[in-house]
Amino acid sequence: MLSYQHGYHAGNPADLHKHLALAGLLTLLTRKARGISYMETHAGRGLYDLRAPEALKTGEAAEGIEAVDLPDCPLKFALDSTRARFGSHSYPGSPLIAQTLLREQDLLHLMELHPAEHKALRRALKSGNTAVHHRDGYEGVLSLSPPKPRKGLVLVDPSYEIKTEYAQVAEFTHKLMAKWPEATMVLWYPILPAGQHMELISGLKLKFTRHEVGFALKNGEGMTGSGLVLVNAPYGTAEVLNRVPEMTGNLIRKI
Ligand SMILES: C[S@@+](CC[C@H](N)C(=O)[O-])C[C@H]1O[C@@H](n2cnc3c(N)ncnc32)[C@H](O)[C@@H]1O
Repeated sequence: MLSYQHGYHAGNPADLHKHLALAGLLTLLTRKARGISYMETHAGRGLYDLRAPEALKTGEAAEGIEAVDLPDCPLKFALDSTRARFGSHSYPGSPLIAQTLLREQDLLHLMELHPAEHKALRRALKSGNTAVHHRDGYEGVLSLSPPKPRKGLVLVDPSYEIKTEYAQVAEFTHKLMAKWPEATMVLWYPILPAGQHMELISGLKLKFTRHEVGFALKNGEGMTGSGLVLVNAPYGTAEVLNRVPEMTGNLIRKI
C-alpha cells in the first residue's frame, strides 16, 4: 500500500522535530574530515512546494515551519539554501537537508518505493555523491550495509500506514545493527492517542535513547507529538535535542 504522500505534511511540527535533529546530528558526524555514509529507508520526494494544493489542503506547514523563525542552525542553513535555489515557498525533505549539509567525501543512498515520489526525488537530488534507489527501503539499506565509509547515519522514516510497521522497524533495527553495529540510527514515530509507538519501543532489544515532543495540530489526524529513537547517537546529541523547543519558539514542547 503506497497511498501516503508526504506533500500533505511537509514542514509540519513533526518534520521540524525530525529535521532539526537530523541536521544537528549530521553536523556532529561531519566534524572530522573523513567521509560518512548517509542512508534513508523512506526518502520521500526530497523537495516540497508549500504552496502546492496538497500542502494548502492540510495547512500543516502553516502550523509548523511557517509559524517559526528559526535561529542560525544547520536546518536553517539547509532551508535558506533550498529557498535560494527553488523559491521562497520551497521546503527541503530529509534527503535534500542531508545533501545540502554533507560534503564531497560523503555518500548518500536514498530509498523510495512510490514511483512518482521516486521520480521527483531523482530529479531534485541529481548529484555525483547521491544514489537514488527505487526499491524497498528495508531491503535496500540492509543489502548495502555495511557501507564504505563505515561511519554513518541511517534515517528510518516510514508512514506507518500499516500497524505492523512499528514491529517491522524494531526488527529492521536489529538486523541492521547485526550487519553494521557502529551505524547511528534515527527512527521517527508519531505519537498517537492509542500509543501504537510502544510496540516499536518495547520491541527494541538494544541500547537506545529516545526524544519525544508534543504540539498542537488542527488537522493532524490525532497526532499529538513526534518521537525519535536514537541508536549510537554521537557525542553532543543531547545538546542538539534539548535546543529544539527553544529553536521553535516553544511551538514544540518537550514531553
Ligand atoms: C514519511 S515519508 C518520508 C519523508 C522524508 N523522510 C522527509 O523527512 O522528508 C515516507 C515515504 O516512504 C515511502 N515508502 C513507503 N513504503 C516504503 C518502502 N517499503 N520502501 C521505501 N519507501 C517507502 C512513501 O512513498 C513515502 O514517500
